[in-house]
Amino acid sequence: MQGLHIINDKEKYIEKVNQKSGELALLAKGDGTEIMTMEIKSNKLFSVDPGDTDEVMEFFYLLKGSVVYQEDEKDTILYQGDYFYVQHLKEPVTFKTLKETGLLYVSSKPVFHFLSNDIKELYEIVKKVEKKDIYTHDHGKRVEEYSFKIAERLNLPRERMELLCYSALFHDIGKVNVPDKILNKPDRLTENEMNKIKKHPSDGYEMVKGTFLESIGKIIEQHHERIDGSGYPNGLKGNEIFLEAKIIGVVDSYDAMISDRPYRKGLGSRVAVEELQRLSNRHYDEKIVKVFTEILKEEGKI
Ligand SMILES: [Fe+2]
Ligand SMILES: [Fe+2]
Repeated sequence: MQGLHIINDKEKYIEKVNQKSGELALLAKGDGTEIMTMEIKSNKLFSVDPGDTDEVMEFFYLLKGSVVYQEDEKDTILYQGDYFYVQHLKEPVTFKTLKETGLLYVSSKPVFHFLSNDIKELYEIVKKVEKKDIYTHDHGKRVEEYSFKIAERLNLPRERMELLCYSALFHDIGKVNVPDKILNKPDRLTENEMNKIKKHPSDGYEMVKGTFLESIGKIIEQHHERIDGSGYPNGLKGNEIFLEAKIIGVVDSYDAMISDRPYRKGLGSRVAVEELQRLSNRHYDEKIVKVFTEILKEEGKI
């Protein structure tokens, strides 16, 4: 029948993209409406943002798994067959998957490319940076993992958690502009070379501008700021630095210390933590270092 499109192939889709937390596949589109499926791994956050216009409706049906929505300390758990939709949404709402979850996602306005391309591009840049700087393989992922764990214990609101994860993952994208020979130089860097490295937080900020992740730009820009004002690029102090940037700063420093560098072998976890503790209240937020130490202890790393 003309106009009827029957798809009896589970693997069929128009386009698919891997996102941080899972997979998004565009199944059908027309007249502005998009029908997608989202596969999200267990224990991941995802949020639904307000549309640009009031009329946008977004509908989600749980094909499998379960998700939890938390409001005023009260958890609402949704299971297979449950659904939710948003319209006239004023603020982002965040959900957490409790299991590997599949959702049918219908939007009355095209969102697929908006969600896919920006993230895809930033991912590509992370991969490029980690290839350029031969010692940083999976650095972004590790920083993300521990930043998430710390933030959970500090009860960071859920809507900030997801952005924290993106900021942690993409914190060093600005390094794409730093020549490889500086990143991997085995000797002491000259002042000029150091200044080139010090540009990466602000470059990272510029790179997310104009994407839907623009709001994480400031966090990326601040990840080398230190609470006594000795950091860069702006020498911010104490509360001038976002909590998210302070968290990333601690985990980032730890990961840098335990990784091999061109000019030295990686330190042991215990020594690295002692260094964080020594600089607590000067470079690093005391509470964050404390929580991070607890986590590493529980994981048997120290
Ligand atoms: Fe950095
Ligand atoms: Fe880093």
